[in-house]
Amino acid sequence: MDVKTNSASVISVLFLCLFLKTYFSLGADTISVNESVYGYSTIISAGSVFQLGFFKPGEAENYYVGIWYLKDPHKNIVWVAHRENPVTYSSELRISDGNLVLFNDLKIPIWSTNVRTTSSDSVRAVLLDSGNLVLTDGSNLSEPLWQSFDHPTNTWLPGAKLGYNKITKRSQVLTSWKNSEDPAPGLFSFKLDPRDNSYVILWNRSTKNWTSGSWNGETFGLAPEMTSYNIYEFVFVSNDDEIYCTYAINSSATNFSRHVMDVSGQIRQLTWLPAGNRWNLLWSQPRRQCDVYAYCGAYASCDEWRLPFCSCLPGFEPKVQSHWDSNDYSDGCLRRTRLQCGNNTIVNGEREKFLSIFNMSLPDNQQIVQATSLQDCEASCLNTCSCTAYAYESNNCSTWTGDLLNQRQLRADDSRGHTLYLRLAASEFPHLKRSSQNKKLYMLSILIVVIPCAACSVYYLRRKKRGTKDNRRSNKTVGLYDSEKHIRDFLHSGQLRVDEKKGIEVPFVVLDSILAATGNFSEGRHTNKLGQGGFGPVYRGKFPGGQEIAIKRLSSSSGQGLQEFKNEALLIAKLQHRNLVRLLGYCVEGDEKMLLYEYMPNKSLDFFLFDRKMCILLNWEIRFDIILGIAKGLLYLHHDSRLRIIHRDMKTSNVLLDGEMTPKISDFGLAKIFGGKQMEATTNRVVGTYGYMSPEYAIHGLFSIKSDVFSFGVVILEIISGKRNTGFYHSEEALSLLDYAWKLWNENKALDLIDPILRETCSSENEFMRCFNIGLLCVQDDPSDRPTMSNVVFMLGSESGSLPSPKQPAFLVKRSLSCRASFDEKPLSRNKLTDTLNEGR
Ligand SMILES: *[C@@H]1O[C@H](CO)[C@@H](O)[C@H](O)[C@H]1NC(C)=O
Ligand SMILES: *[C@@H]1O[C@H](CO)[C@@H](O)[C@H](O)[C@H]1NC(C)=O
Ligand SMILES: *[C@@H]1O[C@H](CO)[C@@H](O)[C@H](O)[C@H]1NC(C)=O
Ligand SMILES: *[C@@H]1O[C@H](CO)[C@@H](O)[C@H](O)[C@H]1NC(C)=O
Repeated sequence: MDVKTNSASVISVLFLCLFLKTYFSLGADTISVNESVYGYSTIISAGSVFQLGFFKPGEAENYYVGIWYLKDPHKNIVWVAHRENPVTYSSELRISDGNLVLFNDLKIPIWSTNVRTTSSDSVRAVLLDSGNLVLTDGSNLSEPLWQSFDHPTNTWLPGAKLGYNKITKRSQVLTSWKNSEDPAPGLFSFKLDPRDNSYVILWNRSTKNWTSGSWNGETFGLAPEMTSYNIYEFVFVSNDDEIYCTYAINSSATNFSRHVMDVSGQIRQLTWLPAGNRWNLLWSQPRRQCDVYAYCGAYASCDEWRLPFCSCLPGFEPKVQSHWDSNDYSDGCLRRTRLQCGNNTIVNGEREKFLSIFNMSLPDNQQIVQATSLQDCEASCLNTCSCTAYAYESNNCSTWTGDLLNQRQLRADDSRGHTLYLRLAASEFPHLKRSSQNKKLYMLSILIVVIPCAACSVYYLRRKKRGTKDNRRSNKTVGLYDSEKHIRDFLHSGQLRVDEKKGIEVPFVVLDSILAATGNFSEGRHTNKLGQGGFGPVYRGKFPGGQEIAIKRLSSSSGQGLQEFKNEALLIAKLQHRNLVRLLGYCVEGDEKMLLYEYMPNKSLDFFLFDRKMCILLNWEIRFDIILGIAKGLLYLHHDSRLRIIHRDMKTSNVLLDGEMTPKISDFGLAKIFGGKQMEATTNRVVGTYGYMSPEYAIHGLFSIKSDVFSFGVVILEIISGKRNTGFYHSEEALSLLDYAWKLWNENKALDLIDPILRETCSSENEFMRCFNIGLLCVQDDPSDRPTMSNVVFMLGSESGSLPSPKQPAFLVKRSLSCRASFDEKPLSRNKLTDTLNEGR
């Protein structure tokens, strides 16, 4: 029909999109006696701000009376009259016996303001520009008989009080919708706690999930957002009758704002950006989605580093799949196989078993049980029918009865992690081989023991044969100089000879096991292809045991890329750093040449950074850590490793992210090794990626560690702005991100560069400015004006101290270039680039 809901984002940013076709206004802001609102008729506040009428939030034919912003394209609902009792299309809202009453299609009253008992011809309901619907019997609207502001649903508007009335002992409470298509009261509520003058979020009306901290005269201790910026003015009032807070907009920059108790369990303040014709999230609390109490519902766990955040525990499935699909998790999960507990017909045998789940934050409401051993603890749970799980640690046995709530999946190194033993029907176990943490161990055994074994025996046999020769060579100083020379010799030879394999310090993996792991590099519906790198496709492989690994396959058709393959196989195996991707093995058989890496579940940085949904996951803290991590990785390459290495292809798509968002520099195909004192070199073959190349390299083929610094500067600016350097082709504002950034910097509008999504989480303006400044220093035209990576790491880490002022950076990107995609991943030939540059001049 005409009104539909749309839950707009993966992370359940709830935007109601009401596609209105035929709403028409009664031309008034008032419902008087003998007038009514029905069907698609509405009333509109005097200043054309709010509209009141019937709306339909979901697929079902359920209609509600609500108030929404007239000009908001998403028609966000700010108030609902009758949240729990939907009506049909042929219902009617009118004044009856002195009250505003909603009659359903059978003319039965469904909802009423319920304040008067006698009828009066002068009673009317007026929709004000504040969004308040008032019922009045006279001309003075400040003294209403009833007002919607006293009965909020999930939204707190400017001018409304949210507090506690000491006389009536009633609170105004914001309660989330049940789910994005059902305005019935959900599990999360937001209200004032009069005992300590704080705001709290409650789960299921009772469990405290979050507190703002007490009002200290200026602000709430733990929610500094709820205070007077220049834009908003929060007022806290406590008198004999009531305690409340109210807020007002104090700026011409925006005209609307709202606080919403969202279905995600977060309280959010949004503000309208008239220029963008959209809402901007100012802040939300609890900040991390998994900090929301029981966000995923019963028998599901929340994982901060995965999307979607929620997944059912092993052996469970979503209670309502459609809600699960639309990120409405509160229904939680159900057992796939019922427990047979208490069924006396099964006397012995394995009815139920316990599955260990590692690295969990434990569920709520545990019971402490006396037990002297793990077996004891398990027996005690098994003997209680209602016991669903147990945990045993340092002689403490905890058990859970009933629903498991609020458990979180943590990273392996998180000290809050415990092992939870989950009770499941024995028949479930064949499906659930092992949980993720077991896989890691399993993987190691596969890689270290199983796979290389076949190769090892061959390898050692060969080695033995040549043993004497080898020994003679390695009698000299082993390591540094030797390996460097070896690598260079290796790189200059045109082919990968058998004896060269031993320069590669990672296990050889036989082709058959790779074919099995990738389903013969299948490209069908269940494709294992992760992407296309510069020199061939990258696949995901799954070894028996379940561990995943990434496999880069050199295109077998062309001889191109062999150099890069050798480069990478040798180099990366020699490099060990937290911020460099790890090579786990390689394979050379026939025409096939492959490199095996640790699999990065979070793909590459560009995937997050330039995706409007995913970038929400990169808050300021994470971005800063990523910048620092990349800087440390590059520092290691330039100065700290045994070899001096220039990466030559530093860009956001070559920064991979592991499960903890630690950046790992990858793709060493173009890297160059420099000997002892060598500082720069030239090449006739300019390779690299457009938009990240320093001018001296792109134009003269001259490269040094400072050309990596330039690329790193572009990466910093991309990370803090969320914009691609090459994303400005048709922009009137600027030629490139560097140009744009420089303009803002010069006009003292540096803060405008920040990724809009960060405005909420970037608590450190200082850190942002430092990153901006360093970014600009790195992209200076003259390489000697650019800092070294050790300078960069130092500057990033020093919280005070002024940085050098940047000069105008080098702008390489030209507006005329239109086919960006073809330049993004492929190496550029020097001629092509200079042609392009000449064209632009
Ligand atoms: C409402 O309608 C009734 C019956 O038609 C009429 O008697 C009454 O005067 C009307 N009231 C107003 C305020 O128009
Ligand atoms: C309306 O009521 C308010 C609050 O009682 C009062 O301050 C104001 O003077 C009244 N206005 C009129 C026009 O009577
Ligand atoms: C919320 O609490 C009520 C009783 O206080 C209980 O019946 C209900 O099951 C609870 N809801 C959930 C989802 O746990
Ligand atoms: C008890 O177990 C028997 C055998 O598996 C089964 O047929 C029966 O339905 C079970 N009863 C209950 C109440 O689960």
